Amino acid sequence: MVDASYVPFGLEPIEKASRDEITALQLDRLKWSLRHAYENVAAYRKKFDAAGVHPDDLRALEDLARFPLTTKQDLRENYPFGMFAVPEDQIVRIHASSGTTGKPTVVGYTQRDVDTWSDLMARSIRASGGRPGMKVHVAYGYGLFTGGLGAHYGAERLGCSVIPVSGGMTERQVQLIVDFKPDIIMVTPSYMLAILDEFRAKKLDARQCSLKIGIFGAEPWTNSMRAEIEDSFAMDAVDIYGLSEVMGPGVANECVETKDGLHVWEDHFYPEIIDPQSGAVLPDGERGELVFTSLTKEGMPVVRYRTRDLTRLLPGTARSMRRMEKVTGRSDDMMIMRGVNVFPTQIEEQLLRCAGLAPHYQIELRREQRLDVMRLLVEARADHADEASRAAQAAALAAHIRNNVGIGVEVALGIRGRSSAPPARHAASSTCGRRAEPDGGDRITMGRRGWISESML
Ligand code: DLL
Repeated sequence: MVDASYVPFGLEPIEKASRDEITALQLDRLKWSLRHAYENVAAYRKKFDAAGVHPDDLRALEDLARFPLTTKQDLRENYPFGMFAVPEDQIVRIHASSGTTGKPTVVGYTQRDVDTWSDLMARSIRASGGRPGMKVHVAYGYGLFTGGLGAHYGAERLGCSVIPVSGGMTERQVQLIVDFKPDIIMVTPSYMLAILDEFRAKKLDARQCSLKIGIFGAEPWTNSMRAEIEDSFAMDAVDIYGLSEVMGPGVANECVETKDGLHVWEDHFYPEIIDPQSGAVLPDGERGELVFTSLTKEGMPVVRYRTRDLTRLLPGTARSMRRMEKVTGRSDDMMIMRGVNVFPTQIEEQLLRCAGLAPHYQIELRREQRLDVMRLLVEARADHADEASRAAQAAALAAHIRNNVGIGVEVALGIRGRSSAPPARHAASSTCGRRAEPDGGDRITMGRRGWISESML
């Protein structure tokens, strides 16, 4: 674990630059980025024109507030490649993340974008205490998800040896940690706790293993989880943040010497905090929704992209770039289940494919042995209420969700109409409760399209 004598290693000049130098660079790059988006992406041109703004209107950073916000819906309307700002043959990589329904949100990178991403991930690993020559066990998923490949390229860029394990197969994860002796692990924090449990099940002392640094993100986690992981593994546990639409992991990262929130790599992303209801920009220090504008992205620039993540901006400490506080929640109903983003509308879409099920449901998310478990409470229609038919419906729904959303769920099936609840409770409304502490044992429940029989809850 680092102590007061820790000296950060190999800082790039921009990490030590003054605020004036940073804002001058941001303004220059922002002018380029707005023009690039306006001239090359029809959707941005249309939105800017409708709002009566032009890239030339940006003279100071504050002028950005006059430009329209961008949402996941905008990306969805331009599925799959309509937000790209370069011809498709200049795109060298495509990733995707969950959309609110069947179609994912697609992102594209030029070679320069992949290089920038690798540089920023290398910077993030270095800020976490990583050094060239260290071995990095990557247990983020490889694939369309940006976690695995993002971590992989960054670790290589820093000069580390990468062990590209990807997610899952917990016994094997532990075996590889014991045998290959990595210095760093990059994984979701909840899966790190499952790995810890596997160490204990195997009667191995996690404090004796080779890991010195954990770089955890892709889902919210708390300082109490940090304390548990650091204590159990004798390691430094550091937070990494990012989202596919903006780049992937490495948009912001904690510095190991302070662990006081995540420094936003402001030379490539311009952050704002807005009031999620009114859209008004809030001053630094106030809590609201995080919004990003890319400053250097070629393939898919984003202008004022609404992350839906709730946090606040704070002045720099270990670096001159500003920090974002640990993400405390979201301004929409997206859940993150074992690192996979899930919108209730995705579940609903699969439910509606099952003719024998009524279009009412409730989602229950709970932690069981450290991992998220999702249970769906649904109802069979009265004409599909016999036992065999209900079992078939439940299995079909679970399979649709596994194949289309990518997560395993438990399905609890009741029978429509067999409830004594008064009709007034049937009023269409959506219910949604959130876990206050992501590592707490509380359940969260969400429902859509109204009401579900009381007998099932
Ligand atoms: O989760 C990218 C990533 C991979 C980040 C690995 C860190 C490590 P998406 O799948 O697009 O991208 O999901 C982005 O995940 O808007 C947040 O809600 C959540 N998220 C990501 N990192 C953190 C974090 C990746 N450190 C969404 N704390 C974001 C809290 C996080 N939430």
